[in-house]
Amino acid sequence: MTARILDGKAIAAALRARLAERVAALPYSPGLRVVRVGEDPASGVYVRNKDKAAKAAGYDSATIHLPAETTEAELLATIATLNADPVVDGILVQLPLPPRIRTEAAIAAVDPAKDVDGFHPLNAGRLAAGQPGLVPCTPRGVMHILAEAGVVLRGARAVVLGRSQIVGRPMAQLLLGADCTVTIAHSRTRDLPGECRRADILVAAVGRPEMVRADWVAPGVVVIDVGINRLPDGRLVGDVAFGEVAAVAGAITPVPGGVGPMTIACLLQNTLEAAIARRG
Ligand code: GUN
Repeated sequence: MTARILDGKAIAAALRARLAERVAALPYSPGLRVVRVGEDPASGVYVRNKDKAAKAAGYDSATIHLPAETTEAELLATIATLNADPVVDGILVQLPLPPRIRTEAAIAAVDPAKDVDGFHPLNAGRLAAGQPGLVPCTPRGVMHILAEAGVVLRGARAVVLGRSQIVGRPMAQLLLGADCTVTIAHSRTRDLPGECRRADILVAAVGRPEMVRADWVAPGVVVIDVGINRLPDGRLVGDVAFGEVAAVAGAITPVPGGVGPMTIACLLQNTLEAAIARRG
């Protein structure tokens, strides 16, 4: 078998185009502010891509770049200003933050109604309780790919590899909400390959290059690869050994061009929804 390739780039482009149409019909431009602290080079690329996509879709987007020496109090003051600014609908504090700043303090300072990352404990709690709220962008993007691919979720066995606050945990909640039987597997799981082989849907989000091998998956499985890892030779690979797993799986997302583009599209979706909830 050769797996169907799930083209996240195309799905994301279609979603961005639909969002741009909805934005064009509004009497205002949804406001997005991305806060970056310091000089983490990968963050620079991500933040530029978010800003570019937002502007292209008609959003009022700006990046606030604070110096590496910024204190936690200064960052919290910046967030408070954005919370109070009526033209700002969405606030995203780019991670990682310099070690001096407590990530939880920054996340908790964002107005939950403007928390387009969905990282605030109130939004995480709403998701866990099955209540509506802002949902983290990457897991939301994964659900969108599964829907576009026509994957049946009800009753399916889903294994989420990874338990991060940003991807693994919210991913598991969304799949549970869609009536999957969900297992969260992680670095301390006994017999990781065995757990993965039970999956109808496998979402890999561990940040270890090509960890999932062909003998970890059942024939026909739907594989979603959230990992983006740079190898010493410069190649960009996921958490899944793409070539060999694609020979066994029923469908698989590539890296790059799979989940990555969906994250930005879902950030725009969250920002539009936050704007409509605030301003109508
Ligand atoms: N750094 C890496 N991914 C993300 C993300 O989704 N949101 C934020 N704020 N920072 C990140």
